[in-house]
Amino acid sequence: MASRIPKPAFTIRDAVTADLPVLVDFLTRLALHVNGGLEMQLKESEYQRLYEVLETALESPDKRIVVADLPGVGLIGMGDVTVWSSQSIWEQATVAEYRSAIIDDIWVEPDYRKFGVFRSLLKRLVEFADERGAYDLVLEYSSSNKEAKQAWTRLGFVTTGIRAAAFTQNVKEALK
Ligand SMILES: CC(C)(COP(=O)(O)OP(=O)(O)OC[C@H]1O[C@@H](n2cnc3c(N)ncnc32)[C@H](O)[C@@H]1OP(=O)(O)O)[C@@H](O)C(=O)NCCC(=O)NCCS
Repeated sequence: MASRIPKPAFTIRDAVTADLPVLVDFLTRLALHVNGGLEMQLKESEYQRLYEVLETALESPDKRIVVADLPGVGLIGMGDVTVWSSQSIWEQATVAEYRSAIIDDIWVEPDYRKFGVFRSLLKRLVEFADERGAYDLVLEYSSSNKEAKQAWTRLGFVTTGIRAAAFTQNVKEALK
């Protein structure tokens, strides 16, 4: 448990190719976490796809993947950001191009949570977004993810949309 170990002396750095196997593992465990923590095995084809997506991201000037690295232990967290540009569709617009940064794939190893790893990762991601001229930061998290909700809300993120789901049969009933 985090309370039994001293605050880890981790460093934050950009991800490199050698990190990719660990990053795929983090993304797999993040997906399991989002799916309710069920024990499942990733398909080999999906492992390969994730590896390639991350590998491509390392080369992209609009993306940054950062990791928290603890000497003697290895990687204990990751996060990434992508800056998107869109042209204004309005004649009256004073700004021709609008940039937004999408924050994604935030994972901190369970034993190293509540030590500020997330905040340190985010600082680096926000620096990148700011340098690239992003006007705002956008992200998604599951409404059942209490620690994510708490962490993002404390940083000023507010809900701007709602993704809704219903069982098809229930909707069919409701439409009768
Ligand atoms: C959410 C997560 C990234 C937080 O990482 P962390 O390194 O423990 O976070 P930090 O220690 O930097 O704390 C950040 C803030 O979140 C709060 N927080 C962190 N974990 C929390 C929890 N379990 N419950 C309530 N608040 C929590 C902290 O109080 C802190 O706020 P403060 O600095 O104002 O006190 C981590 O729990 C995690 O990886 N969860 C699983 C994956 C996930 O949910 N990713 C986010 C998807 S969007």
